[in-house]
Order: sequence, then C-alpha cells, then structure tokens
Amino acid sequence: MPESLADAVARRRTFAIISHPDAGKTTLTEKLLLFGGAIQLAGEVKAKKNRIQTRSDWMKIERERGISVVTSVMTFEYGGHVFNLLDTPGHEDFADDTYRTLTAVDSAVMVIDAAKGIEPRTLKLFEVCRLRDIPIITFVNKLDRESRDPFEILDEIEEKLALDTAPVTWPIGRGKSFAGTYHLADNTFRHSDEDVKPIPVNGPEADAISGLLPEHERDALVEEMLLAKEACKPFDLQAFREGHLTPVYFGSALRNYGVRDLIEALGKYGPAPRAQEADTRKVEATEEKMTSFVFKIQANMDPNHRDRIAFVRVCSGKLERGMKAKLVRTGKSISLTAPQFFFAKNRITADEAFAGDVVGIPNHGTLRIGDTLTEGEDILFRGVPNFAPEILRRVRLTDAMKAKKLKEALQQMAEEGVVQLFSPEDGSPAIVGVVGALQLDVLKERLKSEYALPVDFEASRFSVCRWISAEDRAELERFIAAHRGDIARDLDDDPVFLAPHEFGLNYEAERWKAITFTAVKDYQ
Ligand code: G4P
Repeated sequence: MPESLADAVARRRTFAIISHPDAGKTTLTEKLLLFGGAIQLAGEVKAKKNRIQTRSDWMKIERERGISVVTSVMTFEYGGHVFNLLDTPGHEDFADDTYRTLTAVDSAVMVIDAAKGIEPRTLKLFEVCRLRDIPIITFVNKLDRESRDPFEILDEIEEKLALDTAPVTWPIGRGKSFAGTYHLADNTFRHSDEDVKPIPVNGPEADAISGLLPEHERDALVEEMLLAKEACKPFDLQAFREGHLTPVYFGSALRNYGVRDLIEALGKYGPAPRAQEADTRKVEATEEKMTSFVFKIQANMDPNHRDRIAFVRVCSGKLERGMKAKLVRTGKSISLTAPQFFFAKNRITADEAFAGDVVGIPNHGTLRIGDTLTEGEDILFRGVPNFAPEILRRVRLTDAMKAKKLKEALQQMAEEGVVQLFSPEDGSPAIVGVVGALQLDVLKERLKSEYALPVDFEASRFSVCRWISAEDRAELERFIAAHRGDIARDLDDDPVFLAPHEFGLNYEAERWKAITFTAVKDYQ
C-alpha cells in the first residue's frame, strides 16, 4: 500500500547543526551520514570540507564548485525516519546565508566542545533559532578529551542561553577514561556507537557500568549520575518543542560515542515538519496541496551549463516530478521537470518529495530567494530575511566595453544572494552591498572565473543602507524627491536610503518621523 501523506510527513526530520567553528560539526555530519548509509567511509565529508582559514585558500576551495552544493542539503534514512540535514556555512561572513537556511528547518542540533562550552558563534546562531522557536537538541562533543565537568556545562547553557537543560544521557568517564554513554531515565547504556541497541542495567551502580572505569573513578561517577537523576530537570517533550528546554547528549563524534543516541533522539523527539506561516494563513504540512519556498540559490554548479539550482523547502503536500507549480511572485506557471535530492556525494532525480523535504530545482533564473511555489493558491511565505549590508562598494570594470555583461552578471549574483545590488536613482553606477568582506572576494572571483569579468571595488561614499517605507505614500515620495542622490532601488525595486554614516541616518530619521527605516527586509 502506498504510504499516506500524513505518514510520509510524520517521518520527516529536517534540521541543521549549529556550532562554533572547530566544535565538531563536520565530524558529526560525517558520522550521521555514515549511520544513514549515505556515505560508505568516514572521511568523505571531511575531505571536502572548507576548513581553511585564509582567504586565498578559501577561494581555491570555493572555486571547486560542487563542494558547498553537495553539503547544502543531505538526505538520509535511519530507524524509519527520513532526515534532511541542511548545512550552513561556517564562516560568519556568510551569516545571511545561514539565517536563510535556518528558515527551512524544524529543529537544530547545537554542538558544543566539552572543553570550551558556549562560544560566541554558537550563541549568535542560537539566538536566531530562538527567534524562530526552533527546538534544539544539544550534543556535547569531545568527551574523549580533557573536558569540563558536565554540570558546569549544563549550568553554562542555562545561564548564557537562558534555556532549561535536561541531560538525557551522561558520560561514563571523561578524557582517557571515556567509556560510553548512560541513559539516565531508561537505565541503559552504550559502550560506543557500535552498540546498535542500548544495554539495560539496574542503575548507575551496576557492575557493568562501574566496571568500565578505573577503580578510583567509580564512586565519583555513580554519585554524579545519581545527582544528575535527582537534581536535573527531566526531559519534557512539550517544553523542548516550544524551545524552552534542550535535551543534552554527551559523546565524541570522532571516537564514535553518543552519535547513535543523538540520531535516535532526533527521530523520537525531533518535530515532524511544522506548519508554516504564510501572509494570509498558516499552512499545515499535511495539507494535500503542495506549497514550498526557495531559501537558497546555488548557481553554476556545473560551469559548462549556466544552470542554477533553487533549494526549495516543501511546506505542505507532495511535490511530484513533472508537476506544474505557480510561481506566486510572477503569477506564472513553471514545470518542475527535474527536481533533485542530494546525498553525500550524489544527486538523484526526485520523483516525489513530501512536506519537510528539501529538493533542488534546476532553472535558468526563473526562481529567486524567497519565492513561493503553490498549486495555484496566492499565498506568500514570509520570513526569509534580507539583511542591510554593512559594506557598500562600487564595482569598477577594467574593460568598459563589458558594462552590459557586468550588469547582467551582478543581477544574477544578487538573485542568488551572493551580494545585494542597489541601483541609484540618479543613474550613477550600481552599488553592491555585503554583510561580510569575504562575500566581496567571492563576488570578484566568480565574476572572473564564471563571466570572464575582471573587476575591482571602489569605496562608495555610503556606508549605511536602510529600506524605507511609509504609511502615507505621498510622504515617501516627498522623502525620495528630497534625497534623490541618496536613494537607490534594490532587486525588487524597493527603495533604500543610503547614508555616509549612522549619524547621517539618525539625523534624517529624526527629521522625517513618518518614514520607517528598516535594517531587515523579508524577501518578496
Ligand atoms: P567543525 O566542522 O565544527 O569546524 O569541526 P570539525 O568536525 O572539523 O572538528 C574540528 C577538530 O576537532 C578536528 O581536528 C576534529 O578531528 C576534531 N574533533 C571533532 N570531534 C572530535 C571528538 O569527538 N574528539 C576529539 N578528540 N576531536 C574531535 P583537527 O585536528 O582540526 O583536524 P584533523 O586533522 O583531526 O582532521
């Protein structure tokens, strides 16, 4: 019997991993994929990883297109669940890409280095998850090394993130003596991830547990675990789903501890695809009709064909190969002839995808970030954010004959989300805006390698950019007319006000009270 839509949706778990660089995200990803049978040998993700710190090396990696693609989304199955793991770029200069990706997940795994605790980038990404009420499962990694006391780590999560913690497992030993994970509520343990099924025991005092440790550590561990059982909050599914409490798992991704506990937790507790807010109503994942939105575009994956892949999160229903979908922004219909699924290394044609799934849709520029696809209904999913750039530059072309080509290339890059593009009202050359400096390097490199356009960047006299709006259209028109030289249009033709500094912005904001200046704009 074919699987019902409700059952197919209920099996989906769509998540991202958030962490500070070096906490072990890549290693953990690799192990998860290994469990899911999506890769054969550990090392495949690592070999491809962009783990290079310097700019030039980073560029070299980025040039080998395909890397970030295969890791954009990874689908695998384990224990009857279908997992969609969405990757986020590690470097903070690409934070806007990360925020957009987080709009497409239902839960997140927060990886913490057991020796370092909560680090700055973890904190930032956590805050984004909190804004969206994304439930978080915590994985405390690297227990095989010198690490902090688990209670101290739990305290730190509670204090720094204002998030309740419930340790579900407890590490049996630490550092050199790390010998497994103990499930506090179930009274079971695993020596390592090799144990497919957890082994039942009578309690932390059981010989099977204490026997794993050197004699002088045994009593302390038993005491610690009894205290954890007594003093820590029990896991509460509702509090977790609402984003108030995080279940905590301990392990070592590198040495194969605790990853099986984690993936089982994702399956058991992780939310199935959530209802998604559209402009006029909430869309339930189990609705029959397909709806979806584009949260990421990746272009020129194959340099021989100028193809673009739009990564689409299915929000409801079933997306089928060959179906026609309405692109709500334009009102036009598009054929989904070759949707694709991504595995660790391969992509395959997706015949059908369900709510929660992420598929790639090849297109030649029809789809943009933030686009909504439906089976005809006029709704728009909101919330894929666009951040006001912090760096504004003019692009200088060494060969003036190629101005038209540059314009087209910049337009494409902007549609892809690599940079933002602003066309000044006074007709002066376009301004590109980015959130992080590395994005400019990527732009320059890609213009050169993909479009044969060598460019440089020139300082612009502006450094602040805000979208402007007003309830009274006439007032907005007056503002625009009075600041003609400081107004530009973004890709959607929405007006922005450009200022040389914050002071200039604040000055105008004081004088023009009816104008709203915003630093974040939803796509669409
Ligand atoms: P990231 O993606 O979060 O940046 O982290 P990644 O997985 O690349 O891990 C960062 C470093 O930490 C790597 O070491 C990795 O081997 C190590 N690591 C990850 N998980 C564990 C763990 O559970 N225990 C221990 N002891 N180490 C772990 P590296 O020296 O930077 O790289 P490599 O030379 O070992 O590949």
